[in-house]
Amino acid sequence: MEVMQVLHMNRGNGETSYAKNSTVQSNIISIAKSITEEALIKLMNNTVMESMGIADLGCSSGPNCLLSAWNIIDAIHATCRDANRPIPELSVALNDLPTNDFNYIFASLSEFHDKLEREKGSGFRQCFVSAVAGSFYGRLFPRRSLHFVHSSSSLHWLSQVPIDLENENGIATVTNKGKIYISKTSPQSVLKAYAFQFHKDFSEFLRSRSEELVPGGRMVLSFIGRNSSDPTTEESGYQWELLAQALMDMAKEGIIEEEKIDTFNAPYYAPCSGEVTVAIEAEGSFGVDRLETVEIDWEGCLGEKSYDVKSKSEAISRGLRVANTIRAVVESMLESHFGENVMDELFRRYGEIVGDYFYERRPRYGNIIVSLVRKG
Ligand SMILES: C[S@@+](CC[C@H](N)C(=O)[O-])C[C@H]1O[C@@H](n2cnc3c(N)ncnc32)[C@H](O)[C@@H]1O
Repeated sequence: MEVMQVLHMNRGNGETSYAKNSTVQSNIISIAKSITEEALIKLMNNTVMESMGIADLGCSSGPNCLLSAWNIIDAIHATCRDANRPIPELSVALNDLPTNDFNYIFASLSEFHDKLEREKGSGFRQCFVSAVAGSFYGRLFPRRSLHFVHSSSSLHWLSQVPIDLENENGIATVTNKGKIYISKTSPQSVLKAYAFQFHKDFSEFLRSRSEELVPGGRMVLSFIGRNSSDPTTEESGYQWELLAQALMDMAKEGIIEEEKIDTFNAPYYAPCSGEVTVAIEAEGSFGVDRLETVEIDWEGCLGEKSYDVKSKSEAISRGLRVANTIRAVVESMLESHFGENVMDELFRRYGEIVGDYFYERRPRYGNIIVSLVRKG
């Protein structure tokens, strides 16, 4: 599978779009907001900066894209106001893969600029927003042109299906029978291949950013991760297990071929914090200022929330809502492998399976938030 060509969030603002189904990710941006503010205060510490290069990597489309940019600008504004300093000219680059719906972003820009001027004053006329299409697992910007990098809910996507699971023609070489991600039944070789691919990709990400950031430059990255060192636990990616169940049900009824399931592996990995710190230390260009893991439930709520489900129909409607949030993210990949015609049926079944699961469990995504500083 060519991830660069098939991975994109659902476009536009229709019912199954990412724009309409990204509350979980929006809440994650809000959770990391105080860490982003802290990093920007430290970055601007007692220094008058004439201009600042900022990048949001894996920006997608929809309201979250400009929400991250807004939070960063808001924090810079507050820091300058409190220190009675002029606001630097800002260059804000929004990056995603070339198949991203950049038109949606461009269409929202004039409203964004109007809001900036209205709420922050004329100093923010000098905020230059641009889009940069390309993979963040490689160079995107000139050397030492960035001061601050932000990325939310994106780095759990790998650059490719782990190398040892597919040959160069995209044909599966190791069988992960009936599964589409790491599962309790996966052979050890599958676990190793995923961990290796994450390490390789994340190291490349750090290497590329180390070239682009100025010494003392900062990054705040948040992405799905896990608390346990065991990647087969339910917190590690049970949404894929349930999706595989829906696919297998369809295979049993002859709607799709079982072989198609065996040959699909998600280009995704939820690392534990140890794997993240090992890669940062081995790459060597960044110091860890802060690393936190937080949990958010599948419906986007933080902390304890009652999962009491009062009726079957309530469970199903909650399951279908969760299925829509996952559909908005993974549909492009599944469509290219299983065909567009089975998508509605797949996600209807998936919603019911997720709804049933809510009777027994309080499923959550783990999230790693890491604040890094480029060594001088
Ligand atoms: C779930 S969305 C998150 C979007 C947004 N940051 C948010 O918080 O709502 C993940 C985004 O990462 C992008 N992405 C995945 N791999 C990427 C890569 N190698 N380079 C650039 N963007 C990538 C996807 O295309 C997608 O738009």
